[in-house]
Amino acid sequence: MRKKIVAGNWKMNMDYAEGISLFSEIVNMVRDEQKGDQVAVICAPYIHLNSLAKLGGNTVKIGAQNCHQNESGAYTGEISAKMVKSVGAEYVIVGHSERRQYYAESDALLLEKTNIVLKNNLIPIFCIGETLDERNNGSYFDIIKSQLTNGLFSLSEDDFSKVIVAYEPVWAIGTGLTASSAQAQEVHAFIRQQIQAQYGEAVAQNTSILYGGSCNPKNAEELFSQQDIDGGLIGGASLKSRDFTDLVKTFNS
Ligand code: PGA
Repeated sequence: MRKKIVAGNWKMNMDYAEGISLFSEIVNMVRDEQKGDQVAVICAPYIHLNSLAKLGGNTVKIGAQNCHQNESGAYTGEISAKMVKSVGAEYVIVGHSERRQYYAESDALLLEKTNIVLKNNLIPIFCIGETLDERNNGSYFDIIKSQLTNGLFSLSEDDFSKVIVAYEPVWAIGTGLTASSAQAQEVHAFIRQQIQAQYGEAVAQNTSILYGGSCNPKNAEELFSQQDIDGGLIGGASLKSRDFTDLVKTFNS
């Protein structure tokens, strides 16, 4: 059965002391609330990964928000997947829309990053999603399909089976606009269908597909109850320990 996952994305927030303090609160609160087999993850800035991995234990897993596509070398300022792995992180967000938009990350580059992440035994959380224009002009299914095809579908079945997909409509990220549960479910079902066409039903049924975009404790219950929504990738609400914990709790209610 596919995993239920609530993954926080702190983005470029929290200095060292703030990060330790917020994460300690999250671990203590999630430990009391977590039941069943849902997974809680915090994807933090690189400076935090080492300390948070030690504090999180089995209660809250740790992820990075990016890594470089090459193994090592003369890439000043970059961080490799191997380095991320070496400090105890288990996940890496690949292809967040902010990286696609501000750092011109293409599907081809994101496929390279996914490959290096998998090679280092990390789990990619691969983000896809349409812009507001693409939503309004009705091309969003084509966009989603091409992001999946070019970013992921040349992976072997074995590799693809390790990937978590996150549907994040760009127009809903950080805007307070959430996709309705019907809009999100429609796209999640489409994503699962595309996976099924490429890798077969068993892989499609086992792939966790997360929703992201202004997800909070108020709207999560309805979103997470949709058949093809297996959790969330949470930005703003992951910066508040109570909100993040309530999102984890949503699966227990
Ligand atoms: P948001 O961000 O929850 O603040 O909209 C989600 C994300 O960017 O992953």
